[in-house]
Amino acid sequence: MSLSRGQFSSKMGFILAAAGSAVGLGNIWGFPIKTAQNGGAAFLFVYLLLVAVLCLPVVIAEIAIGRSTEKNPVGAMAALAPGTRWKTVGKLGVLCGFMILSFYVVIAGWVFGYFLETVTGGLERLSTDGAFGTFAGSAWKNLAYTGLFMTATVGIVVGGVKDGIERWARYLMPTLVIMLFALIAYVLTLENAGKGVAFYLVPDFAKLTMKNITAALSQAFFSLSLGMGALITYGSYVSKTDNIISSAAIVAAFDCFIAFSAGLLIIPAIFTLAPETTSETIQAGPGLIFVFLPKVFMNLSGQVGYFFASFLASFFFLLICFAALTSTISLLEVPTAYVVDEKGVRRKRAALSVGIIIFFIAVFSLLGNGAVDFLTNFVTYPSGVTKDSLSLVADIFNDTALPLGGFLISAFVAFKWKTANFSDEISHGYPSYKGSMVEKALNTVIYVCPFIILFIFLNTLLALYFGIDVFK
Ligand code: TRP
Repeated sequence: MSLSRGQFSSKMGFILAAAGSAVGLGNIWGFPIKTAQNGGAAFLFVYLLLVAVLCLPVVIAEIAIGRSTEKNPVGAMAALAPGTRWKTVGKLGVLCGFMILSFYVVIAGWVFGYFLETVTGGLERLSTDGAFGTFAGSAWKNLAYTGLFMTATVGIVVGGVKDGIERWARYLMPTLVIMLFALIAYVLTLENAGKGVAFYLVPDFAKLTMKNITAALSQAFFSLSLGMGALITYGSYVSKTDNIISSAAIVAAFDCFIAFSAGLLIIPAIFTLAPETTSETIQAGPGLIFVFLPKVFMNLSGQVGYFFASFLASFFFLLICFAALTSTISLLEVPTAYVVDEKGVRRKRAALSVGIIIFFIAVFSLLGNGAVDFLTNFVTYPSGVTKDSLSLVADIFNDTALPLGGFLISAFVAFKWKTANFSDEISHGYPSYKGSMVEKALNTVIYVCPFIILFIFLNTLLALYFGIDVFK
């Protein structure tokens, strides 16, 4: 490993950084809402099953590809399949890094804005009807918040692997867990929270549709930071003496655990406000936690006083900021590593220029939430649904491109790189791997993965853009 590229200091360092990448807005903002909209406990069950059976093998595949080549996604594909089109899969990943970060940082900016506003006494205003619309529609304010968040991200990525990414994850991740649990303990003592817990944990499989399953797969890819080579990139900094399989399993389990916990916080919180909530009545859209949570905290102020309620609210938004920051770091790291490795640019310059470009792309998503009408009602899908610019980018690059990337990466391992090489790579750091049951299981699943992922992916296209559920 060349010293200039950098490496994680230990297995724990990698686990923290990868978990930091995985745990983000997808867990805290996305997962609870998707669960609520897709049937509650049955969705949770399908989600966990997909993570264990389909996603975990792809997580392992990405890390193995990264470690074996010590390269960014484009360089890695070129190294393992020289002279082929597989490089394009890496390029798709780098593009995803640009585009996902461009809307992700806008939402992270909202969270940061909500933190600033609640910490300065603005909770009451945020809890009034229409407050989120006004907030998201104010272009200048959001440009500042998004810009600040992007600046923080660039600042950390400039620091490199050990001093930047790893050091920050080391502090931010444990803080996040403590904060989350304090809030769950609090919310579960509230009236009607139990109804939310029941909705969240008692499954009704009869209602499950293909649309719920496609939603679970895209959510799982997004949450695990899977399908665009973020884990190839992080894998490239992993030591040959680390056990990839156990690292991957720990990261995936931790990610599910945080998503599950966030659901245990947010869904009961929604029920304390609206005890009659069902999957059908739950409000859709990116603004949900921003609309609901201030109201929850404002209601609390009746019991605990405005000051303490504001404190709790700002605490929570700060928690989400932390989670988002360790994720934006990983999103920026992919295009940065690409520019460093393939174009020979110094890390500092690479991170800075990529960051600036993404900030400009982010304006497109930023203005689509009320600031500019044309972008707010930007496209109408064949299904008849109209979407804003931010949702369009999210639909294309999360819901569509990530499962596609997962399909291509698992197909790459199964049919191009071949399981013998895959096994070789894993056996570094896991000497008893070859011949074990784990190897047999993984090498079987990795052949099946591409087909199942492709099948669900095609259904995603139908459901998302055409509103068609063939199994209904
Ligand atoms: N997993 C992060 C979340 O849940 C988002 C994220 C970070 C991501 N890096 C990624 C998603 C790479 C896809 C690919 O919020």
